Amino acid sequence: MSFRTIEWTDEEVVMIDQRLLPVREIYVKCRTYQEVAEAIKEMIIRGAPAIGVAAAMGIALGAQGIKADRFEEFYREYEKICDLLAGTRPTAVNLFWAVDRMKRFCLEHKDVRLEKLKELIKIEALKVHDEDLEINRNIGENGNPLIPKGARILTHCNAGGLATAGYGTALGMIRAAHEAGKEIQVFADETRPFLQGARLTAWELMKDNIPVTLITDNMAGYFMKKGMIDLVIVGADRIAANGDAANKIGTYSVAILAKEHNIPFYVAAPISTLDLALKGGDEIPIEERNIREVTHIFDCQIAPDGVKVLNPAFDVTPNRYITAIITEKGVVKSPFEDGLKRLFR
Ligand code: MRU
Repeated sequence: MSFRTIEWTDEEVVMIDQRLLPVREIYVKCRTYQEVAEAIKEMIIRGAPAIGVAAAMGIALGAQGIKADRFEEFYREYEKICDLLAGTRPTAVNLFWAVDRMKRFCLEHKDVRLEKLKELIKIEALKVHDEDLEINRNIGENGNPLIPKGARILTHCNAGGLATAGYGTALGMIRAAHEAGKEIQVFADETRPFLQGARLTAWELMKDNIPVTLITDNMAGYFMKKGMIDLVIVGADRIAANGDAANKIGTYSVAILAKEHNIPFYVAAPISTLDLALKGGDEIPIEERNIREVTHIFDCQIAPDGVKVLNPAFDVTPNRYITAIITEKGVVKSPFEDGLKRLFR
């Protein structure tokens, strides 16, 4: 990949500003944990695994600045930092997974000298980043056999290198198939309102010379009916115990279209996206975002002043529309409940 989504350099967290892509490639430097939290809220960085990595790095950044003499004092401040980061976005469970991991790590090392502990916390955050890269490569490897030679693949939103530490989940499968020389083609839904498909997926696939065609969201059915789509691959923000999967708004409609046209619908995600404490998708909290994302495209107003607007950022695809869930630990097919549980054994 020819770009870095997020990295830790010289006590700063540096991330590519995903609000400005593809027009400008600007890297933002966060010097405080509050700046990292703001970057997640404002979608400078987005995508479930990437915000998990950002939270871990934000916590590590905050930990470096804690002034305390005793562990209890240190941990009180540390918890505040964790809670601020956990409050940034509600749907992607990877965020809470990362925060919990960083909290647990700190508690498990309570007997270590505080200066040393700060260093270990930083190393742990870097581990969250590096492991995510490896996880995505494994998702790609596990999912690659599901992609036929010459496949025309529809994807929605951006579940790519930009949404992760690198390589991607849905785009990880696509990258693996491309690297295997399968001569695949990608159709990218533009993904209104934030345009992750048009701005980010098209951009990163073009950078890697993977053939991509951009379509608007409402064209998916047209191309499926014409027999121009062989399979769908999307990412996920949270998957419940029964396999219901929350992902970017519009995913549910694509899944129904795929079922109607007998097209396999795959969800690619790391096991940190699984929330087995939730029985079904109805329990997944759905983020409502600023209505300006709907009424404006960048600074251009496209709706009348004062119009009533709704802007849920995610929807839930019921398990019956999902052909398989591809994780770094293996591929799970319906019925999902037992298969998903087994991934943790
Ligand atoms: O609002 P976003 O851009 O953070 O939403 C991202 C998605 O819905 C992705 O498909 C999902 O997080 C999977 S990323 C590997």
